[in-house]
Amino acid sequence: MDLFEYQARDLFAAHGVPVLDGRVATTPEEAQAAAEALGGGTVVVKAQVKVGGRGKAGGVKLAHSPAEAAERAGEILGMDIKGHTVHQVMVAEGAKIAEEFYFSVLLDRSNRTYLAMASVEGGMEIEQLAVERPEALARVPVDALTGIDAAKAAEIAEAAGFSDELKAQVTDVFQKLWTVFTAEDATLVEVNPLVRTESGEVVALDGKVTLDENAEFRHAGHADLADAAAADPLEAKAKALNLNYVKLDGQVGIIGNGAGLVMSTLDVVAYAGEKHGGTKPANFLDIGGGASAQVMANGLDVILNDPQVESVFVNVFGGITACDEVAKGIVSALGILGDEATKPLVVRLDGNNVEEGRRILAEANHPLVTVVDTMDGAADKAAELANVGN
Ligand SMILES: Nc1ncnc2c1ncn2[C@@H]1O[C@H](COP(=O)(O)OP(=O)(O)O)[C@@H](O)[C@H]1O
Ligand SMILES: [Mg+2]
Repeated sequence: MDLFEYQARDLFAAHGVPVLDGRVATTPEEAQAAAEALGGGTVVVKAQVKVGGRGKAGGVKLAHSPAEAAERAGEILGMDIKGHTVHQVMVAEGAKIAEEFYFSVLLDRSNRTYLAMASVEGGMEIEQLAVERPEALARVPVDALTGIDAAKAAEIAEAAGFSDELKAQVTDVFQKLWTVFTAEDATLVEVNPLVRTESGEVVALDGKVTLDENAEFRHAGHADLADAAAADPLEAKAKALNLNYVKLDGQVGIIGNGAGLVMSTLDVVAYAGEKHGGTKPANFLDIGGGASAQVMANGLDVILNDPQVESVFVNVFGGITACDEVAKGIVSALGILGDEATKPLVVRLDGNNVEEGRRILAEANHPLVTVVDTMDGAADKAAELANVGN
């Protein structure tokens, strides 16, 4: 889960990373009040969207008075930045910047370790720096057990070329940012820019944090950080039902058991769809191993509520999940939905208890259900049915 800048700032502050005071505002009036609460001096009005390059896009603006803060907020609120609409701004104390640096720590999957990156040339887009002048961006592997201790922090500061006067301050900040990373179970903590102010303080002016959702259970506060406004309502519903669901843009709803099978089902449907007007999968939904009839019914409920769905492909290879449970789930879901169910279902069952599963479906003899024995044949049928609806 990616955080907004102001949320990252709060986590930084909670772990002692130096940040500037700031308030969130959703209207120009609130922005004015926030600027007043910050002392009435110079502030920066910053778009709160989960995308980088806000400054360049005009989403970060200086204001020298509360009235001007209201004006700038009026310009920024509602702006579109790379496809993200600005619904809130952060009014932050204005820093007098002397130098801008870069620091990040992230999970380096390919090297099975953590990686710290730092540069004394912060501010600009770091991807560009990494490409154009890779030598200006220090990359220092961080061992998971020792982390960024004083010695590692000094190594990072040295590799990045920080001046001796600054080393004590930046190494302290690096260690605190490592604490944010581990204590909050983050997979990314990035500060761009980390600045030296004219008065000599080192402050994090921007923050990008990605939290590991698998660790949500041990952080009571993390669930509150989710952006409810942005969540797709179907994805939210699926999450509440504990389903592994990802909304996609096509017309064929997909349900399968096991991530691998569902992934290959998406491929097979996309391929079959080429012959049927370019129909595509509408979602990823893995009901997992050992799914009960209820889980199947929940899955169908989510998918049939997607207005883009024209047909549904249920592809189950019974292992731990028994095909008769799946068949019962389909029949009971259709029973509950009654007249609301209007979309055709193509079902391919194989594996554990397949005969009983097919028997249950045959006995129910539901007009919307077509049973096809092979995966390719079923994908073709589902794509064809989705196309007919268009
Ligand atoms: N509180 C602040 N005071 C002064 N300047 C700031 C402040 N926050 C950001 N800036 C300036 O605006 C630039 C862009 O802001 P930043 O928060 O990094 O957004 P983004 O990375 O999305 O462009 C920064 O590099 C910095 O120069
Ligand atoms: Mg930035």
